[in-house]
Amino acid sequence: GAPVEVNIGKIQPGQLIRAEWRGKPVYIVRRTEKTVSNLAKHDDQLRDPDSEKAQQPVYATNAYRSIKPEFLVALGVCTHLGCAPTHHAGDFDQFVEGVPNGFFCPCHGSKFDMAGRVFQGVPAPLNLVVPEHSYINDDTLLIG
Ligand code: FES
Repeated sequence: GAPVEVNIGKIQPGQLIRAEWRGKPVYIVRRTEKTVSNLAKHDDQLRDPDSEKAQQPVYATNAYRSIKPEFLVALGVCTHLGCAPTHHAGDFDQFVEGVPNGFFCPCHGSKFDMAGRVFQGVPAPLNLVVPEHSYINDDTLLIG
């Protein structure tokens, strides 16, 4: 499949937009500063906090699983059986203990944080997949 260009210039902090690449949904989230700083605080609740078993490009193998800490780019495909997780942007008091936002899979209840990292005790075995991506300029993301 050809790479897909996405205009990210108008995404508000905390907002998720969806794109499609190779027939799969891609979630692009502009994380708030608070969300970014919270990422490091719940590693002990995650199955693979350092994404050692996860699928992501080398340049996204870091604490944010991304090129820019502000933006998460991940497939919106649960690693259990492929349902689309929903985004909970701080609208739950406690998404998981002490974690205010993340992704919830409605099919069998898997939960992921705002870096797409899966929590312990849910069916999904792996963190969400981060696809190959790059930035053409500040407002334009290229997926693929
Ligand atoms: Fe997501 Fe089963 S498909 S928890």
